[in-house]
Amino acid sequence: MPATGIFLGLSLTDRSRVVGQGPDVRELSQRVTRRPPGMAAAPTTARANVNLALVKYWGKRDPALNLPAAGSISLTLDGLSVEASVAFGGGEADRVEIDGVLAAGEEAQRVTGFLDLVRAEAGRRERALVETRSTVPRGVGLASSAAAFAALALAASRAAGLALAPPALSALARRGSGSAARSIFGGFVEWQRGERFDGRDSVAEPLAPPDFWDVRVVVAMTSSAPKAVSSRAGMVRAATSPLYPAWVAGVEADLAEARAAIRARDLEALGLIAEHSALTMHAVGLAARPPLLYWRGATVDCLHRVWALRAEGTPAFATIDAGPQVKVLCAPADAGRVAEALRVVPGVERVLTCAPGCGAEVVA
Ligand code: DP6
Repeated sequence: MPATGIFLGLSLTDRSRVVGQGPDVRELSQRVTRRPPGMAAAPTTARANVNLALVKYWGKRDPALNLPAAGSISLTLDGLSVEASVAFGGGEADRVEIDGVLAAGEEAQRVTGFLDLVRAEAGRRERALVETRSTVPRGVGLASSAAAFAALALAASRAAGLALAPPALSALARRGSGSAARSIFGGFVEWQRGERFDGRDSVAEPLAPPDFWDVRVVVAMTSSAPKAVSSRAGMVRAATSPLYPAWVAGVEADLAEARAAIRARDLEALGLIAEHSALTMHAVGLAARPPLLYWRGATVDCLHRVWALRAEGTPAFATIDAGPQVKVLCAPADAGRVAEALRVVPGVERVLTCAPGCGAEVVA
């Protein structure tokens, strides 16, 4: 059963009121419209925050469309964001600059493939100039691709003259990177698995806005080296694991528990289900062929530190994505103590603390 707006008692048609909290995204809830393609190629810039999965997306029912094997729930985080500027017109080929460096090879190809979707939808042929700037280290398991493709979906669709409604924008972002579907929205977000082959029903929707519940996520960075196995490749490998079917079968129950915990603002219930979801996801990888382990020694030490904090009476709950970083959910009042406890774990390079963040918005 879809959980749209359940925490605010809103119907589906009221969805735009809780989306993204910014006027820009609210404006997107208008019907899809097309502006005539003009000659001017002023860039459109959009910003999106990363999101942290509390119930993980780990496996696909359709890799080409990034359709997930199961639903997932996330929290969008403030301060870790990507800005994307897109201008159509001129040039023989798309030009993609990522943090000031010209993209090439697979990276550039991925953006061009994504722009092709936007061009097809808008009925345009011009090449684009794309520039992205990130406050998130890339490829280390901090969901930079989620923020990047959410920002790109909004900037490119706008630059192409499309005003997509939030579900369409989420579906577009999903094509770039599955988890980007969730970064379109702020606060707590659920991405539906969907049933359709074309994926039109596999979109994210807001469960509760950022100010619904003030929590913190403390991120312990144990390595800034790029990961050896991308999420995309990791999910392919996960499907070889004998534990994979059990993982997929368990997600529905995890989602129900997470929704209920968010609705009740029950930190312990949400933290325990988030920890369970992450550890089950990583257990799947351990049993894959060849095995998949994103953790380093410091990752394990951080986990033990979090469990020790809990035993000492501080409600803190760990989750880990496709990388060695440990992200800890806790109350704002405990964030300082949690950050200090993680900072002194040998091998921890840096500790960041994030509050709930808003959805994607046009900034220029
Ligand atoms: C572990 O969204 O990066 O962070 O759809 O192949 O681009 P693709 O994968 P991606 O996977 C994210 C995986 C995860 C869990 C999550 O965010 O739900």
